[in-house]
Parts: sequence; structure tokens; C-alpha cells
Amino acid sequence: MRFSEPFITPFDLIMQKTSRNDSERQSLLLVTGAIEQGGRTLSSVLRKGPLLGVTGSARVQNVQGEEVQEMDQVGQETFLSLFRRSRAVLSVLSEEAEKPEILEVDQTGPLLVAMDPLDGSSNISVNAPVGSIFAVFRPSTLDQNVDPEKLFLESASSMILSAYLLYSVSTSLVLSIEGETHIFTLDPDSGEYRGTGQAWRFPENGKIYSTNEAYVPLWESALQEYTSWIKTHRKPPMTLRYIGALVADFHRNLLKGGIYMYPAETGEKGRSAGKLRLLYEAYPMAFIAKNAGGSASDGKRPILSISPHTIHQRVPLVVGPADLVSEFHDRTGNPFRSS
Ligand code: AHG
Ligand code: MN
Ligand code: MN
Repeated sequence: MRFSEPFITPFDLIMQKTSRNDSERQSLLLVTGAIEQGGRTLSSVLRKGPLLGVTGSARVQNVQGEEVQEMDQVGQETFLSLFRRSRAVLSVLSEEAEKPEILEVDQTGPLLVAMDPLDGSSNISVNAPVGSIFAVFRPSTLDQNVDPEKLFLESASSMILSAYLLYSVSTSLVLSIEGETHIFTLDPDSGEYRGTGQAWRFPENGKIYSTNEAYVPLWESALQEYTSWIKTHRKPPMTLRYIGALVADFHRNLLKGGIYMYPAETGEKGRSAGKLRLLYEAYPMAFIAKNAGGSASDGKRPILSISPHTIHQRVPLVVGPADLVSEFHDRTGNPFRSS
């Protein structure tokens, strides 16, 4: 898109996709506005990186036993405070907090947000792309006294919007609502996120696969055979691309056509449930993919059919254009229907 061409903003998209009588319209606008503002703040902090001294470890571990980076904390504080100030979010679940908290709201139709405020944070110290991921749910109850953990588990089947920000050479905002996925680019001068207004679809005949191949020996044999087939027999051949940040790997595959895999591992030291988190990594990417002509599974079932048991639950993830995900299932012995 060239700047002289007509464009739409995320505000325009939400207005198009909701009606005047929609009690959630205002909340969706406020939540999207908070995501946009957080994206402006984080992209500007990330651009200065080492100049601000925020590219290192915070020297603490999060609830999942992983090392927290300083930018993980900046992301958490930035987005949590914006969602709090929107007064349109009943509760926020985050990778960086053990429990979600109930927030004060004064909008009708308040929403729930599950987020990974900084995805791929180990990329920060080497000036490589990172992102932020959001899943927005309609709460199953508006009772302020409800246990927020239970609230997220019971509302997981009511996702109404997903989004991610990718902080790279430019900042992208990918937003999915009402069966469509749209790509916006931040203009750092005006602060506007500009999109074409055309819904994005995965291109056909994608030829990329993205996975951490160092872990292949830990995968079940059908998956090992699949990657080996890709390299020796598949026609047309595929190429491997892996950045190590889900947002960045997914985004490239969304634009160029490619399949992303983070499977379950076997053996004593293997991650038997995979690495990625269901509610704030796999779910939003599955929603964005589905609305762009793709699909997502845990290797056996559609991601969006999985009911979570715990809020920080991990899940194996296979996501990409529907034909590549089907091919994965056919070759690994678990034929699959995307919904
Ligand atoms: P996070 O920084 O939010 O913990 O996420 C990191 C995730 C994901 O972004 C990426 O795809 C994956 O970890 C990479 O893991 P490996 O280094 O094991 O390949
Ligand atoms: Mn992540
Ligand atoms: Mn993270």
C-alpha cells in the first residue's frame, strides 16, 4: 500500500464490523485503542533498545519458571495499565502474572483480554523481531465477585477478536474480527495504523515450514517422518524459516504461505504438552489463521475446539494455510477437519 492510497484504521474496521445497537461496540473500540497505544509505546521503546538499557534480563523467573526480560515487564505494565484505564476490560490474563485480576469497568459489554505482552523476548538482546498477542473474549458472567480464573476458563469458547503486534523494521498490527483478518502498519509520524480495507487470506501453494528442528529427535515418529519427507520427497520442495518468535514466524507464513509447528515432545526431558500457551498464544493465532483461510491444531484436534483446564495451559501447535495443515495431518496419520 502506498501512503497516497485510501486506507482504513482499526477504528474504521471495528465500526464496520459492529452495529449501533451492539452493546460491545464501545468496549471493542476502547480495547483496540489500548492495543494500538501499547503498540506505539512499545515500538518506540524497542527502537531505542540498548540506549534505554531495557534489552537485558530482569533476573527473575515468571510463573512458568522462565527467565523474565526487562521488556517483558515493560510490556506487562504498559498493556495492563492501558486496559485498566479503558474501563472496558473486566479482567486481564497475562503470561507475566500468575492470576488474572478483576478491573473496574464502566462500559456496557465489558470484555476479557488474555495476552502475551512480549512474545519472543529472547530476541530482544540481539535486535531481532518480537511481538505482543491478544485474545479478546465475551465474559460468561458480569459478576464482579466471580473467580477470574474460572471466568477465563468458562469464557474461552467466546472469542470475538484477536490481534497481534509485530515490532520489526516497521510495526504491524494484525486484527481479526467477524470472520476477517486485516493487516495494518503503524505510521510512526502520525501514530495511525493504516490498512487497505481488504481482508487478508493466506496465499495458496505456500512453501515454507517453520519449526525448531533441533527438537526433531524428541518428536513422535510420525512427525519425524513428516519432516524427513519434506526434505527428501515433497514436490514442490519446501524451505525452512525460523525466527524463534511465534508472532514473527506466523506473520511471515501468513504473508508468504507457510506452516508453523511447535509439537509435543516425548521422553523424560521432553515438553509433553509443547511450549506455547493455549489461551494467549495458540487461541489467538488459530482465530487469526481461521479468519484468513487457515487452520490450527494440536496435531490431533482443532485448537479452537480445546476447552482449557488451566489458564496458563500449554499446547502443541500446528498452524498455517488449510492445505498445508491438512497435508501435515494426512502424513502424520490424524486426518483432520478444521472445525
Ligand atoms: P515468550 O517469549 O512469550 O516466552 O515466547 C517464546 C516462544 C515463541 O515465541 C517462540 O515461537 C518459541 O518460544 C521459541 O521457542 P524455541 O526457542 O524453543 O524454539
Ligand atoms: Mn510468547
Ligand atoms: Mn511472552
